[in-house]
Amino acid sequence: MNDHTPAAASTAALTWERISEAVSSCTRCPLCQGRRNTVFGVGSREAEILFVGEGPGEQEDRQGEPFVGRAGQLLDLMLAAVGLSRRRNVYIANIVKCRPPGNRDPLPEEQEACIGYLRGQTSLLRPKIIVCLGRIAACRLIDPEFRITRQHGQIFERKGILMTATFHPAALLRNPGQKGDAFADFLMIRDRIGEVCERTELVYE
Ligand code: URA
Repeated sequence: MNDHTPAAASTAALTWERISEAVSSCTRCPLCQGRRNTVFGVGSREAEILFVGEGPGEQEDRQGEPFVGRAGQLLDLMLAAVGLSRRRNVYIANIVKCRPPGNRDPLPEEQEACIGYLRGQTSLLRPKIIVCLGRIAACRLIDPEFRITRQHGQIFERKGILMTATFHPAALLRNPGQKGDAFADFLMIRDRIGEVCERTELVYE
């Protein structure tokens, strides 16, 4: 019988297929009860840049892919503006893989139950840069006290990986006045890609 627990995943060799199977059958927290689909991640498994959101919303839950609703469309536009795309040269995932009801923030215990999957994805991908989309991802991955309005666009380093955070695209839809700051963050990210990424080719369509 297949054992899909994270413990089993850690003793067997880590592969994308093993993590993906473990996620799709996961019952580690109550979010599994309300999901239509798990939302594993999307993008190139060769990417040197990893974007991390907080968790799936309604459209993502329906389609099983991160950032496919209105916020996702804005994210795709901002990526395209700096030569990036989910089809080609970035990977996109979330802190939690199942939709929190009513789009509330994922609870600390839900994040804790799920974070091992993102860790597995990160160790397979070995990104040069991780970009947190919004406060929840930044607090989880960079600093529990992270203040997005004050610290967005700053660069941190954790275990040899550059880390930064910018505004969540859903927040930008609510507060369009922050789009200029977010765009400046994306330009800074593009410059850093030029400095630290070896394989990433920026493509402007
Ligand atoms: N918001 C997120 O944080 N992640 C998604 O996948 C969609 C919306």
